[in-house]
Amino acid sequence: MVAVSKINRKLVFAILSYSLSLPFSTLALAEFDRGKALYDNHCKSCHENWVHTREKSKINTVDELRRRVAGWSIHSGLKWGNGEIDDVTDYLNRHYYQLTAAP
Ligand code: HEC
Repeated sequence: MVAVSKINRKLVFAILSYSLSLPFSTLALAEFDRGKALYDNHCKSCHENWVHTREKSKINTVDELRRRVAGWSIHSGLKWGNGEIDDVTDYLNRHYYQLTAAP
């Protein structure tokens, strides 16, 4: 019967794509976003997106954004190194600012 085999094929495809997608979702979990985690833990309590999406944002370049992040990390007593500052700058830029680095 044509109809049944069609359903079966759909079912097999669904099961196959589900099982195939499993390793990928495990991979996605392993892809930990350190910049996001740091921001969520240390910065989000004061401001979420409003400060980064307000019209009069004081940030116009990636350098300025990085300086701000560095400033806030000092202000918050976090003692972040370049790695943490880079990751949070990158996260904020990806998420809100979408600035391109100056050539
Ligand atoms: C004590 C509260 C507080 C904490 C903690 C804090 N911020 Fe802020 N942040 C503010 C306030 C208030 C402003 C807006 C002040 C201004 O206009 O300069 C701001 C502004 C900013 C801006 C500029 C936004 C823009 O586009 O103009 C950035 C970037 C920023 N914060 C990043 C961070 C990061 C990264 C952290 C964590 C290390 C952090 N902040 C922690 C209160 C805080």
